[in-house]
Amino acid sequence: MSSLINFYQKIDINFTQGDGCYIWDDAGNKYLDMTSGVGVNNLGHKNDEINREINQQIEHYIHLSNLFTHQWSKKLSDKLVEISNLNAAFFCNSGTEANETAIKIAKLYAHENKIKDPKIIVMKHAFHGRTIGALSATGNNKYKQQFGKLLDDFIFVDFNDIDDLQAKLEQHHVCAVMLEPIQGEAGVNISSTLYLKQLRKLCHQYQCLLIFDEVQCGLGRTGYWFYHQKAEIIPDVLTLAKGLANGLPIGACLVSEELNNLLKPGMHGSTFGGNPLVCRVAYKVLEIIERDQFVQKNREKGEYFINKLQSKFTSVRGIKSIRGMGLMIAIELDEEVFNISEKMLINHKILINVTQNKIIRLLPSFFISEYDINYFCENLYCFMKNNLNL
Ligand SMILES: Cc1ncc(COP(=O)(O)O)c(C=O)c1O
Repeated sequence: MSSLINFYQKIDINFTQGDGCYIWDDAGNKYLDMTSGVGVNNLGHKNDEINREINQQIEHYIHLSNLFTHQWSKKLSDKLVEISNLNAAFFCNSGTEANETAIKIAKLYAHENKIKDPKIIVMKHAFHGRTIGALSATGNNKYKQQFGKLLDDFIFVDFNDIDDLQAKLEQHHVCAVMLEPIQGEAGVNISSTLYLKQLRKLCHQYQCLLIFDEVQCGLGRTGYWFYHQKAEIIPDVLTLAKGLANGLPIGACLVSEELNNLLKPGMHGSTFGGNPLVCRVAYKVLEIIERDQFVQKNREKGEYFINKLQSKFTSVRGIKSIRGMGLMIAIELDEEVFNISEKMLINHKILINVTQNKIIRLLPSFFISEYDINYFCENLYCFMKNNLNL
């Protein structure tokens, strides 16, 4: 029996080396990585520029307590403020912690505004993380049912349904609405621009906060710095993590000016959050995304990828839908097929991620080439042929 707690169903392959979109096992087999560590290694494995930043920073120091200042958290928050049009950032270590921060801010906002029995509206099928607060906001019982009574602050509504949202705003004292503008774990469900615009309007009208969780869909992946920018709106709170430091642990919670004025020393904190090493790397990540115009390129690559998939698979039996935005793409099958990712890994040497046994979720590195995209499509077609009797 393994000395690791069995929380993950791991595939028994020992990966030893990565480079860009590729990764090698200890037997020297090369694999195409279409997952980027579930949307984390956006700038590829073993990125030389990132490694240089890490090496330079460890020559100075790795950690400094949050009781003192350093240049990298300031540079990083300035950059995030610039690209998000929000006002200030708090740094933590993961997506779930960023969402905990957002939930605490919503509760604080309710307290300051004397909202009685305040509720936070969240979405069915949402995924916000595994800590008790973030789990309570998660709209999937699979992750919650074993853990007894969770927070009762949340009201669940249908995703992308403005009438359901408005009805709940009427029925409850709502202090915030929190959602992923593109649901990731649920299988790349994309909210419409119209919905996002209406949502912004309603949150102003009902004087509640609008919180976007862009932990998975943020930071250029969808062809926008942040997906909600497609609707030309600004939330009150924005949470980020995953690809922000290309694999070093970081989360961020960004807030509007009004909220920034509300937040005071001692209300929240984190020992490791915002340390110089991770902030320096995250700052470099943002510089590279901007310098190499990945936001625009991801939009174009995504269109190429989705067109390619649609032309190859749309009329194929067994495929329900192909959808995506930039390099966040889903191929949904009609029925559940077990062990898809294991079979793709072993037989085709491709890493993919599958949710609900029937939605293939692709989150490749921003360095993915047209050659890799074509190679992936050919291999997926072979897989379908052999396993789904096309
Ligand atoms: C949208 C979203 N929010 C929050 C999280 C939780 O992030 P973490 O695993 O870094 O805690 C995830 C993780 O998959 C996510 O996709």
